[in-house]
Amino acid sequence: MQRERIRNLFEQQAANYDTQWQRLAPLNDALHLLMQSLLAGLPQEANFLCVGAGTGAELRFLARQFPDWRFSVVEPAESMIEICRQHANAEGFASRCEFHQGYVESLPDKERFHGASAFLVSQFIFERTERADFFADIARRLRPAGKLVSTDLCAEEHSTAQAQLLDLWIRVMRGGEASIEDVQRMREVYDRDVAVLTPQVLQAIIQSAGFEPVVPFYQVGMIRGWFSTRTG
Ligand SMILES: C[S@@+](CC[C@H](N)C(=O)[O-])C[C@H]1O[C@@H](n2cnc3c(N)ncnc32)[C@H](O)[C@@H]1O
Repeated sequence: MQRERIRNLFEQQAANYDTQWQRLAPLNDALHLLMQSLLAGLPQEANFLCVGAGTGAELRFLARQFPDWRFSVVEPAESMIEICRQHANAEGFASRCEFHQGYVESLPDKERFHGASAFLVSQFIFERTERADFFADIARRLRPAGKLVSTDLCAEEHSTAQAQLLDLWIRVMRGGEASIEDVQRMREVYDRDVAVLTPQVLQAIIQSAGFEPVVPFYQVGMIRGWFSTRTG
């Protein structure tokens, strides 16, 4: 099952995840800077849902910026959430977190969150209906007019420009030049594990799950980000 395969993939990646992303920190810095302004209007004591939190990149940033928020942290891979918990302990905000090793649907189906994030998560769901369900599961747990900030890898339809962008992205991810074999290997990983949609299709999926407007606010390499408001 795809879910189990992805979970195992991140169980294995956990130990090196933070080191790999240290080099890519400028990409997250820009995303976090924009997210901070997008979410600044939430209540001072907001309840926030962090989906696919990984080792806690966006959670740690939000916990620093919004010291009165409380967080529900959802992450299926035990070794990823364990590192996330260690960061929260070391940085003194663990008492503001509830950690849920699992998926969003295992959370109580209550409209209790003022906002949510899902960074580089839905791209691991291949079935489009399941992907819409993923966003709908978040929408159901947001209060009316609750906010969602999400990112995913996206690509335009096959074209020379897209091929060059993929090549650039792979070199950035690998931290330098990539051989033809490296690029080929990475393409195979993407084909197997990452459901890369066009930004137009992904935006329509988020909208169909109960968000309007769905505002594109971020693009770097192959990552696209949206800021969405729960309808109703
Ligand atoms: C690429 S990592 C991103 C982690 C973190 N959001 C960040 O930006 O550093 C994707 C994370 O999503 C988790 N994940 C994958 N599928 C998921 C799903 N259906 N629901 C929740 N989390 C999921 C993975 O276990 C992994 O930790």
